[in-house]
Amino acid sequence: MAKASTTRWICSACHAEHSGWFGKCPACNAWNTVEERIKSAAPDRVMLASGAAAIPIPIPEVRDEAQRRPSGIIEVDRVLGGGFVAGSVVLLHGAPGIGKSTLLLQIGAAIARRRSGQVLYVSGEESVAQIAGRATRLRADDQGVLLVAETRIEPVLDVARSLTIPGELAMLVVDSIQTVYSNTQEGLPGNVSQIRSVCAQLISFAKQHDVPVVIVGHITKDGQLAGPRVLEHMVDAVLSFEGNDDRATRMLRATKNRFGSTSELGVFEMGEAGLLEIPNPSEVFLAQRPKAAPGSCVTVSLQGSRPLLLEVQALLANAGGGNPRRHCVGADPARLAMLLAVLDRHGDAFVLDQDVFVNVAGGLRLTEPAADLAVLLAVASSHIRKPIPNDLVALGEVGLTGELRQVTYLDARLAEAGRLGFRHAVVAPSIGRELSAPKGLRVTTAATVREALAAVFER
Ligand code: TYD
Ligand code: MG
Repeated sequence: MAKASTTRWICSACHAEHSGWFGKCPACNAWNTVEERIKSAAPDRVMLASGAAAIPIPIPEVRDEAQRRPSGIIEVDRVLGGGFVAGSVVLLHGAPGIGKSTLLLQIGAAIARRRSGQVLYVSGEESVAQIAGRATRLRADDQGVLLVAETRIEPVLDVARSLTIPGELAMLVVDSIQTVYSNTQEGLPGNVSQIRSVCAQLISFAKQHDVPVVIVGHITKDGQLAGPRVLEHMVDAVLSFEGNDDRATRMLRATKNRFGSTSELGVFEMGEAGLLEIPNPSEVFLAQRPKAAPGSCVTVSLQGSRPLLLEVQALLANAGGGNPRRHCVGADPARLAMLLAVLDRHGDAFVLDQDVFVNVAGGLRLTEPAADLAVLLAVASSHIRKPIPNDLVALGEVGLTGELRQVTYLDARLAEAGRLGFRHAVVAPSIGRELSAPKGLRVTTAATVREALAAVFER
């Protein structure tokens, strides 16, 4: 069915769109400029900021359009690649109760203070009084943060447009995309066509007015973003906010970022006064490490540009003749199976008939091969029931022939280990370059798994 045409009122001076006729344009205050236009309802169309898109431009002549607006919250700006980009749309998703609304209120207040502009916080979930109460507790009750409780996107955009002219609208927050709907679409809020339409209108708004827009998205029980996948393709960046219910640590990551890398990690702690930045996550992750317990080994994992110390724990148990189980939290089971086979063959540790449990403390995931050696040593330590010294870190990728392969950014990783008081590092050989280890950190190079086991356990 063809889409019906609708009537729109558009200001011929500033091109703002209004829900009805006005003598004076609410956006630019010009008189007698609002005109009625018949427009086919095509809310899914997205306007790009550059009007001259059809004229080819040589790359060096393209002006850097990415105007960053740092929030001043370092953990947030790092994940975004330096701050919110004007005209960009960011989707923030996470489980219910994880702290999305809290984070955005804090970001909103920080942006409003920093840019002395206004931040429009639109909630389709909570009343203005509820949000204001929380903002006061969070000390995010800044004069520049304006609250609107509204579920229709058209009035939301009218308000946002009216703010772009007099003051400066520094950011628009919509909490959440699943609760906001468009008059031009049929169906309940949260259905696929509603979500697409609302998102498209927000993208158009962002590009037209050069305002960063942040959209909250819910996730389903199995961790998927609720609603159409296309949402992730439409927006410029997708941030996920994660954490465990039983822990106060929260982690912010970008899973898509058109303006920066996706590997950076922001770490927070949820407390009485909202989210606190954790500038030294290594210390938090290692805080509860048991002393002299078999089955624990520390490695340095690179999260974006940031080296983080993580504890890998392993426990071996008798499989009792059945099929041995491999259970991993934060590690890859296929990689673990490979490491067990290498340990069996090249480390003379007969572990293949055992149940093996591996856990990365702190709720982080090990995705790099550089952590192989630590996983292998933790398993070996549990197997021989001999603890690994508390001040030792292990770094190396394990190959199938039992060889250890070099890790990237070794200097930065060793520097972080040294900073946190580690005294001994067992590392894979670096090819063709001098190692620079921090003072107080002894570095043992091991070319094979066997050499690493000897360096760690034979004293
Ligand atoms: P919220 O931001 O509402 O989560 P979301 O928007 O992701 O659903 O945060 C809800 C939880 O955070 C709530 O269970 C209580 C907790 N919380 C604190 O521990 N301290 C605080 O200062 C605030 C505001 C919330
Ligand atoms: Mg919320």
